[in-house]
Amino acid sequence: MIYRAQSLYWRHAPTRAATRFRTTTMPGSQVLMCDPSSITFTDDGWPVISCPATSDALQAASRLLRAGKPVVFPTETVYGLGALALDPAAASQIFSTKGRPPDNPLIVHVSSHAMLRRILPKDYKTSKLCDLLIRRFWPGPLTLLFPCDATVIPSIVTAGQPTVAIRMPSHPVARALIAETDAPLAAPSANSSGKPSPTRAEHVLQDLGGKVDLILNGGPCDVGLESTVVDALHEDGHVRILRPGGVTVEDIESAIAETYSAPSTRPRVLVHRRDYQDDAIEKAPTTPGMKYRHYSPSVPVSLLYTSTPPPPDQTSMSASSFFTTLRDASGSGIPLRIGLLVPDGSQLLRIAESTMDLECVHLSLGPVDDPAVSAQRLFHGLLSLEQEGVSHIVVEEVREVKEGLAFMNRIKKAAGEAFWVNIRPTEGHTPITC
Ligand code: TXA
Ligand code: MG
Repeated sequence: MIYRAQSLYWRHAPTRAATRFRTTTMPGSQVLMCDPSSITFTDDGWPVISCPATSDALQAASRLLRAGKPVVFPTETVYGLGALALDPAAASQIFSTKGRPPDNPLIVHVSSHAMLRRILPKDYKTSKLCDLLIRRFWPGPLTLLFPCDATVIPSIVTAGQPTVAIRMPSHPVARALIAETDAPLAAPSANSSGKPSPTRAEHVLQDLGGKVDLILNGGPCDVGLESTVVDALHEDGHVRILRPGGVTVEDIESAIAETYSAPSTRPRVLVHRRDYQDDAIEKAPTTPGMKYRHYSPSVPVSLLYTSTPPPPDQTSMSASSFFTTLRDASGSGIPLRIGLLVPDGSQLLRIAESTMDLECVHLSLGPVDDPAVSAQRLFHGLLSLEQEGVSHIVVEEVREVKEGLAFMNRIKKAAGEAFWVNIRPTEGHTPITC
């Protein structure tokens, strides 16, 4: 039997304006709505909140945080599980709630430059390069490494590293919560360790419901995957991207080019594994996503390369053989229900749909040339398809430019296997040209 793909609607527009006021509860966890558009900031970073329900929700979250409990809150990247960064007992609850290995350090979130100064070593002067990155990308999805004052930042947060990762989120709810609490918050993504990061409050409730007292719901996250983690402390003066994310390599390169006019003195932007290799940090948990399994839903995920040629030790197969092999391998004798996360107009959808006894649930990654949309939809797509009860998820590659670099970084780690498939030339996308 031939099945037509069932397309899942994006049930909410991916904007914060969609936020509606509703309070949800699950035994042990309360969800309170916050309206990000009701929050503005004074020049010194103090929040002014026009919506009483949002103000009450933020105060309730702040009270819990000050009592040493973790709270889930939205950021522009993904939802975070926050606790007082300077209180080791509070920070330790992040690890137990997520099941996070203790050697994986946390990002500290601040709401203002004054708060940043409070946690840096007393006489530390930031470099010209660091000042530029802060000026251009904060508040926003960029995390920077700083030298750590071990008398201020507990070692549980840094996993004993000599550096601490810090960012200033731009999401009004995140920034207002940190300011209201008047304390930096350590916050990893609010998912059980190894799972995809949550980009909506519903994802958090599904995963950590009952394990956290309070989830602030600020609507879907705009960026949809995590911040870019940058090491700009290296003595050679170049910028190292430890984890690609919401601020793109292209954004950082153009900010540097505007400030350093002479190309000979201009810092270069080096992406780990793409532009440099470092065996020592490959093994270290401080390199984001290197040591532990990451971003994987409970169902198997396959990454399909449709434009990139296979490496020398791999061969490619036709897309239709891929789908028939997948169906036959299930060996269940009943039609196989799979999820497809592919760009608009992808031929993979048509080929999967025309495979006998394959039932497809389709989620769009947006236009093929809009990597920001694909990035915004990746984790939501994986989590929604898992919720739909599919047996296997198939994700098509996107070009590794702009946000596509972060998209591919995450999906390569989430996917248990990758295949290079041919789509007949008349049917395929235009091949990638570098
Ligand atoms: O967008 C984000 O960054 C989100 C939101 C909640 O802010 N947070 C987030 O946290 O993604 P998490 O824990 O899921 O990822 C933080 C990554 C970790 O993989 C860790 O290896 C890296 O940052 N990291 C933290 N401290 C570091 C350090 N001192 N040196 C190198 N990497 C560090
Ligand atoms: Mg994470």
